Amino acid sequence: MHAFPLCRKLTADDAASVARVEKACFSLPWTEPQIASAFTQKAYGAFGLFSENLLGYISVYHVVPEMEILNLAVLPAYRRKGYGRFLLMTCLQASQKMGIHTVWLEVRERNVAARALYDSVGFVVSGVRAKYYSDTGEDACILVFSMT
Ligand SMILES: CC(C)(COP(=O)(O)OP(=O)(O)OC[C@H]1O[C@@H](n2cnc3c(N)ncnc32)[C@H](O)[C@@H]1OP(=O)(O)O)[C@@H](O)C(=O)NCCC(=O)NCCS
Repeated sequence: MHAFPLCRKLTADDAASVARVEKACFSLPWTEPQIASAFTQKAYGAFGLFSENLLGYISVYHVVPEMEILNLAVLPAYRRKGYGRFLLMTCLQASQKMGIHTVWLEVRERNVAARALYDSVGFVVSGVRAKYYSDTGEDACILVFSMT
């Protein structure tokens, strides 16, 4: 049996690892300089899951009482093991303790996996940005989650 990966807060020292996960998971990935720059902002935060290397991460901007989830990604070889849900729940629990009441995110309309995950946690559709993604012309669904 494999041990559950280690979860910890990420720092600017993790920017290269985050960039590797981004490249493996997104058609429009954040680059290492963009990630390093994000870590200099007080509102930015991220958690990662590690086995030997970073295998998944979640990043946010938070300004109490609101938070935006920027990215959530798990390397393809590690998917469907509960890691994406774990990262999301870890982030939501931490943000609740910080006084966050409302969580926003944008997700591609046809991103079946992510939408099923967010739906199962209780996110609901708040709006649509038509043809938001430049690579496919897909709409972005704006989802919202209210802490109770
Ligand atoms: C979305 C993503 C993070 C999910 O990570 P994961 O570790 O595979 O997710 P989990 O194993 O925790 O699954 C949680 C739930 O998500 C849903 N889900 C995950 N993969 C799915 C798939 N391929 N099809 C349908 N539902 C899926 C299910 O509801 C699942 O719950 P279940 O296993 O109890 O059925 C992962 O697919 C990913 O990195 N995708 C590419 C990046 C991306 O699109 N990120 C979202 C940006 S908004």
